[in-house]
Amino acid sequence: MKQRLESLKQEAVEQLGGVADVAQLNDLRVKYLGKKGALTEILRGMGALSAEERPIIGQVANEVRGVIEALVEEKQAAFDHKETESRLAAEKVDVTLPGRPMTQGSVHPLNQVIQEIEDIFIGMGYRIAEGPEVETDYYNFEALNLPKNHPARDMQDSFYLTEELLMRTHTSPVQVRTMEAMKGEVPVKVICPGRVFRRDDDDATHSFQFHQIEGLVIGEKIRMSDLKGTLLEFTRKMFGSQTQIRLRPSFFPFTEPSVEVDVTCVKCGGDGCRVCKDSGWLEILGSGMVHPRVLEMSGYDPEKYSGFAFGMGMERIAMLKYGVDDIRHFFTNDLRFLQQFSRI
Ligand code: PHE
Repeated sequence: MKQRLESLKQEAVEQLGGVADVAQLNDLRVKYLGKKGALTEILRGMGALSAEERPIIGQVANEVRGVIEALVEEKQAAFDHKETESRLAAEKVDVTLPGRPMTQGSVHPLNQVIQEIEDIFIGMGYRIAEGPEVETDYYNFEALNLPKNHPARDMQDSFYLTEELLMRTHTSPVQVRTMEAMKGEVPVKVICPGRVFRRDDDDATHSFQFHQIEGLVIGEKIRMSDLKGTLLEFTRKMFGSQTQIRLRPSFFPFTEPSVEVDVTCVKCGGDGCRVCKDSGWLEILGSGMVHPRVLEMSGYDPEKYSGFAFGMGMERIAMLKYGVDDIRHFFTNDLRFLQQFSRI
């Protein structure tokens, strides 16, 4: 029996010595140390031994088990170590590689200008109103004193969706919507930023879509001087404290009297240069006193209330402020253009 144990030990040591992987090691562990393994098998015969022999053989058996167990453990540790090594090698990170650059977006220059204008008017107590881009003929024209077949409609040729629905040609319909929503209450003091559409040329200064900001104030005893003071305050905040404005008579069906407003040239300050075509002035917006018929149609008594309105093109303001020479830059999303306006 002792001999069988010794040769078992030898065999196990030999086989374990040549073990190639964890699976094989497990097989050998079961084969020698398992419940139905070789060692157990031999020890089962212990019952037949005499009382003197039993402890001697028992000792040998324990020793053999100890040797095999130690070897199995040693091999297991070696495999574990190897596995950790190779995992570490596979997951190795080269911390000296340059990082991937993070690109950061920024607010579109037009939105920057819109936000700036909004802030100026909010500072003067205005609130912001909005309206739909698809408008009815009534709000876009009729309620603004532009009846069907009125020749002034030609100034704003549009995209029609149906006979009655069109892409709004200006933000002025928001004036009407605001007055209706206010139900005759005063004061009305809103600005309405938004996108507008016109069938127009497509060149450096015209586009079929652009943005406007509308302004509307209604109350008791609102006068032309209020309009002038408001626009002077606005243009000075927008273009600098030296800015002057000039009001020129004009025509809009929804204002009476109507004026066009010029600012002193942002480039030369009024001396005359290429930008202002030597006039010293740049046109920036249309405005006037709200026409009595418009007030009446929207539920305000023109005998009691008066008001002023203005509308300006955002792209034009942005182009003047930043010296941009082509309106299409705002819509073509060339990063070389946009990145110049990054504030970050
Ligand atoms: N809606 C006019 C336009 O688009 C501008 C305007 C607004 C004029 C308000 C007077 C009053 O040309």
